[in-house]
Parts: sequence; structure tokens; C-alpha cells
Amino acid sequence: MELENRAEARMLSLRWPDGTRGDFPYIWLRDNCPGGFHPDTRERTFDLMSVPLDVAPEAVRMDGDVLEVRWAGEAHVSRFDCGWLRAHRPGAGAEDPAAVPPVVWRGAGGAAQIPRAAAGDLLASDAALADWLRRARAWGLSIVEGLSEDPEAGMEVARRIGFLRETNFGKTFQVKSKKRPNNLAYTAEALPLHTDLANQELPPGWQFLHCLTNAATGGGSVFADGVAMAEDLRAEDPGAFDLLSTVSIPFRFHDAGCDIRRRQYVITLDEDGAVREICYNAHLAAIFDMSPEVLQAYYRAYRAFMAKTRDPAYQVTLTLEGGQMAVFDNRRVLHGRAAFDPASGGRHLHGCYVDRGEFDSRLRVLAGGP
Ligand code: OGA
Ligand code: ZN
Repeated sequence: MELENRAEARMLSLRWPDGTRGDFPYIWLRDNCPGGFHPDTRERTFDLMSVPLDVAPEAVRMDGDVLEVRWAGEAHVSRFDCGWLRAHRPGAGAEDPAAVPPVVWRGAGGAAQIPRAAAGDLLASDAALADWLRRARAWGLSIVEGLSEDPEAGMEVARRIGFLRETNFGKTFQVKSKKRPNNLAYTAEALPLHTDLANQELPPGWQFLHCLTNAATGGGSVFADGVAMAEDLRAEDPGAFDLLSTVSIPFRFHDAGCDIRRRQYVITLDEDGAVREICYNAHLAAIFDMSPEVLQAYYRAYRAFMAKTRDPAYQVTLTLEGGQMAVFDNRRVLHGRAAFDPASGGRHLHGCYVDRGEFDSRLRVLAGGP
């Protein structure tokens, strides 16, 4: 391993035998000295303001696989493991077991392509749970099968992942046709493709819909990958894509007990411009309040996305049976259902949410590592 002190650039450079190179600004090295972290909590205890911005080494040397930096102006020596430096070299992007690349899917493969798992395996085995979380993360959608008749069985699987996300509909919610519903889901009507709770400050991440019974005529489920629809829109109609990702729209839910409002972008991009989130719910969209000029253009863009949500080319349809549970990333995959006839038989789903952060945390912990 070669070490070079590039004082003029205020950084150390390391080159590994395989050619990998890392450039480490002095201030970064000082900020990340292993001695600056609490040994138990692993939180940073070092105060960045305790050193000047132009902090610099007095001497640097390699000690086997350890880089030793003696800092000028303070009696402090930092010792860095070179494997750690390589893994964290600035600009390379730290490795993250939860960063599973999305598999973008469309309707052509049908429901057979959806990843599936047996509830018993997920409850009994961490390895099975880890494997399933990775597959579900890639797809944004999975079906869990073989749940017991216990109405809590689906929630038990969700709790294997993390805390349930409580909302104004409760910690868990009963999806069935109700008298005086406060949500279209609690009627027997069709629900066009949507994401849930677009009106929330942070719409819930993963959604779990455990089917307790589905004996009614109708009531089939439909899912579509929001990433596929958004990416196709970007290719076909970049102007529409641009408006949907840069102009926010208001969403609102209100009933006797709450009035929850939030502006959202229909399409949210990550820093690299990749589609990270979809927030689309035509029945929770509030009264658009943009200027008349923006409205004309926005409606065109919004309808272009809406048309994609109606296009069967993106849709996977299936009918959930008792003992099955649909699990999907509510901020990526749109879901809906066909109308059903409540007089023909019961239809009852038990639902809950687990946020993306909890889901990804479980993935990382199960992957092991430091
Ligand atoms: C919901 C919902 C779908 C269904 O509860 O948010 O969309 O199949 N339900 O009833
Ligand atoms: Zn819904």
C-alpha cells in the first residue's frame, strides 16, 4: 500500500495493490478519528469545532495495516484501519446492505413473477426473513402465504421487521365495507391505483394487507410499479415528468377528528435523478392551488401519469385468499382493488404499515457486519 501526503491539496492519498485509490482530506480524517466515537454507543463524541478547519498532520506513517496520523498543534494521534479507510473512502459511497437495486417490473410477467414467502419460514428463520426482505425490497411487492387464521398473524410478520407505524386510522386497520366509512377503502367500491396517506407529512412506507377472508364476488387486487410508470413517462414525455417532480400539489384528509394536509410531489427523485418515491392518490388530492398558467400545464402532466395508472401494461392482478398477505412499498408500488358485492360474501383485510427506515434497518442488522 502506498501512502502519499499531498499537503498542497490538504489530503492523504492511499493506493491499494489492486489499484484502488482513496483521497482523504485532513479535516475528514480528523473528524473520523476512531478515538472520537463512544466505545459503547458508537456515537461521535468528537467536537468538530475543537480543531481548526485547516487542521493538518505533523507526521504520517504506515504501521502494517494501520495508518497513523500525528496531528500538528494538538497532542493527538489517530490510528485508522486501512480496510475501514478503503470501505469509507470519500466519494465511493459507503456499502449499505439495504441499498438493494430496484427490479423494475411491468404487467407482462403476471402475478407469477411476484416474490413469495411462507409466513412460517419468516417467523422461524432470520435467514429466510433476510432473503425475503431483500426480494421484497427489490420488487417493492411480495405475497406472504400460509398465515394462520389468527387476525393478528399478518401483524406478527410485520412486527418481525419493525415497529408498526400508527396513523389516524390506528396502529392496524380493518379494511371491510363499513357503515358511515371515513375512507373509500372501507366501502365496497373499486379503488383505482393509488398510494396510501398521501396527505401525511411522511406517507407510510411498507404496507401489509392480510386477507382474513375474501368470499365476495369481485374484490380482486391490482398492483403497479410506480418506478416503471414514472421512468416510461420520463422517456416519452420529459416535460410532464419534469412538472410532476418539481411542482408540489396539496393533499388532504379530513373527518370529524382530524384535518391532515401536506403538499407532495407525485414523483420524487434521489440525488442521482433516479425515481425514489411516488405519491399518487386522486381521491386524496386536494383543490389544486397553483397559478392558472401552471395549472394548465400541470393538468396535462398529471393526466399523462394518470393514463399510465390506467394502462393494463403496468398492472399485475390477483385475488388475495384468506391466509395471504400483500406486502408492498407504499411509496413506490401503487395498489388498488376491484369493486365487490358485500351481499355475496365477506371481504375482510387487516392492515398495518412499517416505515421504510424500520424495514431497511432490519435488512442491515440481519446482514450482519460492523
Ligand atoms: C387500503 C386499500 C385495498 C383493498 O386499505 O388502503 O387500498 O384491497 N385496500 O381493499
Ligand atoms: Zn390503499
